[in-house]
Amino acid sequence: MTSYPGAALEAQALTKQFGTVHAVSDLSFVVPRGTVTGFLGPNGSGKSTLLMALARVLAPLHGQIRLDGTPLRDRSSIETARRLAILPQTAIAPQGLRVRELVEQGRYPRLGALSMLRRHDDEAMHTAMSSTGILHLADRTVDSLSGGERQRTWIAMALAQETEILLLDEPTTYLDVRHQIDVMELVADLVANRGKTVVMVLHDLNQAARYCDRIVAMRDGVIVADGHPRDIVTPTLLEDVFEIRARVVADPVVGRPMFIAE
Ligand SMILES: Nc1ncnc2c1ncn2[C@@H]1O[C@H](COP(=O)(O)OP(=O)(O)O)[C@@H](O)[C@H]1O
Ligand SMILES: [Mg+2]
Repeated sequence: MTSYPGAALEAQALTKQFGTVHAVSDLSFVVPRGTVTGFLGPNGSGKSTLLMALARVLAPLHGQIRLDGTPLRDRSSIETARRLAILPQTAIAPQGLRVRELVEQGRYPRLGALSMLRRHDDEAMHTAMSSTGILHLADRTVDSLSGGERQRTWIAMALAQETEILLLDEPTTYLDVRHQIDVMELVADLVANRGKTVVMVLHDLNQAARYCDRIVAMRDGVIVADGHPRDIVTPTLLEDVFEIRARVVADPVVGRPMFIAE
């Protein structure tokens, strides 16, 4: 397999089946460092399966993933967790676990031999909780939170891991509009100013068009289109992938494409 210099992640001919279901079939793509890539597609198109494979949680049936140029299967899970963090689509915290304790779990791959939290661990947790606006919830139990607060807690846990690469599966689901914008702005800031690389699954195509450097459209386990939002958010693609008839206009704020259903 050709390795792309500077790529954070590379997937080559990735295939994953569950019984007779072809969740992802022969997927190949490269994630350049310092970019925001958005995966979009209808339910069941294989986006979560793909993210779990990229995070080394699921082993692909065929194909290969490289992280920083090294095959993922040659890395241990702890090595992988120091380079990338994943926010799974359905994350469930043990009952009674407090927000601070969940965020602390993001530090585990970083702890030294004595497994003791040090000052830097506290700082990393504080920064993660502050940028997701959950400092005031630190002592609450995760199961007592609203959907949006809980989602922000999981994002904080991923941020506390202090990895260069973040894989976020529908990070704005359950969030009200204010918090959706906060999460997307946070992602933009992490990439622009803190050297992160973000791969995320999104539902909202207009949000993806505004915040992603690149959109990969999936359907039935295959990539249908891959490129800059202006080349992806087109009436033809909206019809082919999402089965909607829509007009595309330039959004008046940043000029990215925006669709309006007809
Ligand atoms: N653990 C699993 N066992 C069986 N089938 C699965 C499993 N995970 C995903 N699938 C199937 O694989 C396909 C892709 O699912 P998924 O990756 O969750 O799609 P998406 O995230 O795009 O909605 C679906 O048909 C789904 O039912
Ligand atoms: Mg999914």
